[in-house]
Amino acid sequence: MDISTLCVHGSEDRTNSTGAISVPIYQSATFVHPGVGASTSYDYSRVQNPTREQLEKIVAKLESGVDAIAFSSGMAAITAMMELFKPGDHIIASDDLYGGSHRLFTHISMKNGLSFSYVNTADITAIKNNLRDNTKAVFIETPTNPMMDVTDIAAVAQITREHNLLLIVDNTFLTPYYQNPLLLGADIVVHSGTKYLSGHNDTLGGLLVARTNEIAEQLRFIYKTTGACLSPFDSWLMIRGIKTLAIRMDKQQVNAMRIANWLLTHPKVKAVYYAGLPTHPGYEISKKQARGFGAMISFKVDNEITARRLLENVQVVLYAESLGGVETLITYPMLQTHADIPQEEREKKGIDERLLRLSVGIENVEDIIADLDRSLK
Ligand SMILES: Cc1ncc(COP(=O)(O)O)c(C=O)c1O
Repeated sequence: MDISTLCVHGSEDRTNSTGAISVPIYQSATFVHPGVGASTSYDYSRVQNPTREQLEKIVAKLESGVDAIAFSSGMAAITAMMELFKPGDHIIASDDLYGGSHRLFTHISMKNGLSFSYVNTADITAIKNNLRDNTKAVFIETPTNPMMDVTDIAAVAQITREHNLLLIVDNTFLTPYYQNPLLLGADIVVHSGTKYLSGHNDTLGGLLVARTNEIAEQLRFIYKTTGACLSPFDSWLMIRGIKTLAIRMDKQQVNAMRIANWLLTHPKVKAVYYAGLPTHPGYEISKKQARGFGAMISFKVDNEITARRLLENVQVVLYAESLGGVETLITYPMLQTHADIPQEEREKKGIDERLLRLSVGIENVEDIIADLDRSLK
C-alpha cells in the first residue's frame, strides 16, 4: 500500500461495530476488568488507551517499526528515551540540533552522569574519531535544525552496528512520508508530532518508534513508569492530521522550492540553506536516502536590522515558534529555538543575528513571496 493511502486508511479500526470512520475518542482514565486477573487489554490510560493505540499503530506502520509510543510532546519522548542510558554512558550527537534537545542533554542528562560529544555528523570521520569505550549511541537530526545539515544515515548505521551502538534519528523535519530512518539502519526514530504529523499548529505530541521488540519493551517500561503519555483527544487530533500528511508535505515542498529559489535572487539575502537546492552540500545524500527535501528553509540576510524588520513586518507569514503546520511561520533561532545554546557554540554553527528560519506552509506561494518581499524592503 502506498504511504499516502496508509496515511488515510492506516488508523481504521475495523473491530469497531458502529462503522465509524473516525476513530472514537476513548476519554476514559481507566477500564473495567471483566473478571479477577482478567483484562480487556486496556487497564489504565497511562499504559494504553484505544485511541492512542490507533495513532501508535499507524506511526509504527509509516516508519516500518515494530512499535511506536506516543508522548505528550517531542521533548517528553526524547526525555523518556534518555532513560535507556546510565551514568557513565557517552553519546555522540549532531552539533546542530533543536535547542531543546541540546538543553536537555546539557542541563538534565549531564547532571544524570551522561557525557556528550557534539560533532558534525555529516562528517563520518568525525563520528569515528569521537568513539570511546563508553559510547552507547549516536543521536542525529537530518536535516538539522536550523542549519539543514544532512547526514548519511546508512553510513552512520554502519558504524553504530559495528560498535554495537544505538542509532537514534530525529525524523521530525522529513516525516515518514519522505524518509524512513529505520529502513536505513537506525534503531529508534524520534518525532515531534507537534509539527508535520499533526500539521495544524493545534496540538503538542511526540513519538518514539522502535526497530526491534527488545528496544520497544524497554521503551514501553520507561513509558508506563514515567507517564508522559499523549491524551486521547490529542491522539485523535494527530490521527486526523496524519490523514492529510501526504498532500500537505507535497504542497509545502513545492512552495519551499519556489521560495528557496526566490530567496537566492534577493539582494538582501546572503545565504540560503535548503536541502533541495543542488548547491546544498547534502543534496546528493538527500536524494539517495529520502523521497523529498521537506519545507524547512533557513537563510541569512545582510544585517540584523533587516532581520528584525522582516520579523516585525510580515503579515501572511507569522512570526512564531514551531514548524510543520499549514501556516508559514518564521522564527529567529538566535532568540528563540536556540537561545539557550552558548553564544560561541551557536555562532560557530552560523546561528547568529542574521539567520532566520522559515517553515513553509500551504498558502498560495505568490502571497508568501509578496509578503516576504514587502517585509525585506
Ligand atoms: C527537530 C525537533 N525535535 C524535537 C522537538 C521538540 O518537540 P516538542 O516541541 O513537541 O516538544 C522540536 C521542536 O521544535 C524539533 O524541532
